[in-house]
Amino acid sequence: MDEKIIIPGTEAAPEKRKKILSCIQPSGIPTLGNYLGALKNWKLLSDEFDSAFAVADLHAITVRQDPKMLRKQIMEVFALLLAIGLDPEKNIVFIQSHVPAHSQLAWILNCYTQFGEMSRMTQFKDKSQSHADNVNVGLFSYPVLMAADILLYQADLVPVGADQKQHLEIARDIANRFNGIYGKTFTVPDPYIGKQGARVMSLQDPTKKMSKSDPNPKSFVSVFDSPETIMKKIKSAVTDSEGGVYYGEGKDGVNNLMGIYSCCTGLDYDAIAKEFEGRGYGDFKTAVAEAVIEELRPVRERYDLLMKDQAYLLETAAKGAETAQRIANRTLEKTMKKCGFVLPR
Ligand code: TRP
Repeated sequence: MDEKIIIPGTEAAPEKRKKILSCIQPSGIPTLGNYLGALKNWKLLSDEFDSAFAVADLHAITVRQDPKMLRKQIMEVFALLLAIGLDPEKNIVFIQSHVPAHSQLAWILNCYTQFGEMSRMTQFKDKSQSHADNVNVGLFSYPVLMAADILLYQADLVPVGADQKQHLEIARDIANRFNGIYGKTFTVPDPYIGKQGARVMSLQDPTKKMSKSDPNPKSFVSVFDSPETIMKKIKSAVTDSEGGVYYGEGKDGVNNLMGIYSCCTGLDYDAIAKEFEGRGYGDFKTAVAEAVIEELRPVRERYDLLMKDQAYLLETAAKGAETAQRIANRTLEKTMKKCGFVLPR
């Protein structure tokens, strides 16, 4: 065996693996956009980093939820995390509300967050307009709970989409502020922005992001759409009248399909343009749909199996929560001590 002796502190010492954490809200079946833009990367990152991934169910109740639906969606999204290939033996995969430390740290951090800085959050401003009848305090302090999620695990990196960057910024501000008062308590997290090209746009209006809340179901592919449905939706995607398969200005529809095809096949835009040179959009769309179907097939198959075994899902969630709780409680206790709380013995 070729064993090397590594002396800590020398160049040969392996770097400590960075920690990443991300969470997904249980708000319905994710779209192809969520999958290619986030979830697929989570799987790749999970091989490279010490990682924790959670279903952010506490965040979900900042808007009114039907309890039956919420219960169903939490289990669906938890199963999906396993179905995308996250290994619960190697990663911490859990449900946020199973780890009370999230709510506990969030309360403490609320007291180190200013009303003024929360008022500037664009998502709060947007959501208080779209849910004008229920502008609750949880909706307001949502980014503080998110900061607690991140800081509890001392995460170095947080994979987030552009819409969450401002929240991550606040998590950094809160961490720096707390560290400034009490000495180093929290790792200050950096955003991890995935590779470009993973931003998937609406199939019907390719200037808008693909969204599952779009009233037109033809505008998005859901991760669990049947192969026939995927084919139909991609076939009816908006393109242009120009007819050439290449990446270019004013070709938002084609650019979007190229992005999707590229994510599924690993081909770059030049290679795709070459593959479809002299061929029409019909051929191209069929190929894109087939690539998407093959990409999602194993996820769907694993998901179907997992959903048939609710006992396994609950047991796996319990194990994940136990590991998460151990780590989270260490940070929570450290934080409480620094603030001056008397810890129970
Ligand atoms: N707010 C995130 C979203 O809606 C979900 C989330 C909750 C999250 N806690 C987090 C993401 C911690 C990253 C880290 O997408």
